[in-house]
Amino acid sequence: YRVEYLNYEVLDDHGWSLDDDDLFEKADAAGLDRVDHGEITVEPDESLLEAAENSGRAWPFACRGGACSNCAVAVIEGEIPPPTSHVLTQEMIDRGIRLSCITSPVTTDTKVVYNVKHLPEVEELLL
Ligand code: FES
Repeated sequence: YRVEYLNYEVLDDHGWSLDDDDLFEKADAAGLDRVDHGEITVEPDESLLEAAENSGRAWPFACRGGACSNCAVAVIEGEIPPPTSHVLTQEMIDRGIRLSCITSPVTTDTKVVYNVKHLPEVEELLL
C-alpha cells in the first residue's frame, strides 16, 4: 500500500487547508523535503505509524494504543478504516481523522496529512 504524506505544519506555514482540493499538487510544487512530504509503503501487517518509522520517518506518537491522539492523521484520499477502540469523536472520524498507531490503509493509493494533533479540535483531546 502506497501512502503519500504531508506534514500538517506545512499547511499551517503556507496557510493551506485540509479541505483544499489541490493540496497535494501544491505540496508537489512547493519542493518540500521528505520530512514534510513524500511516500512510504505500508506492509499488510504494519500500522501506518510503524510503516513511517520503518521508512526512517519520525512521526509523532505517545501511547501507541489508540488512547492519546498524538499520532492522528487526516485521510485526504483513499481509505483507512476507523479503529474500534480509540479517543476520537464521531465528528472527527467523519472528517477522516485516524490514529496512525492502530490503523492502516485498505486502498493501494492513499494520501494523508500527518501531525494533525496541531488541529485545534485534536489539540483539545490532548489536554
Ligand atoms: Fe496514542 Fe496513537 S500514539 S493514539
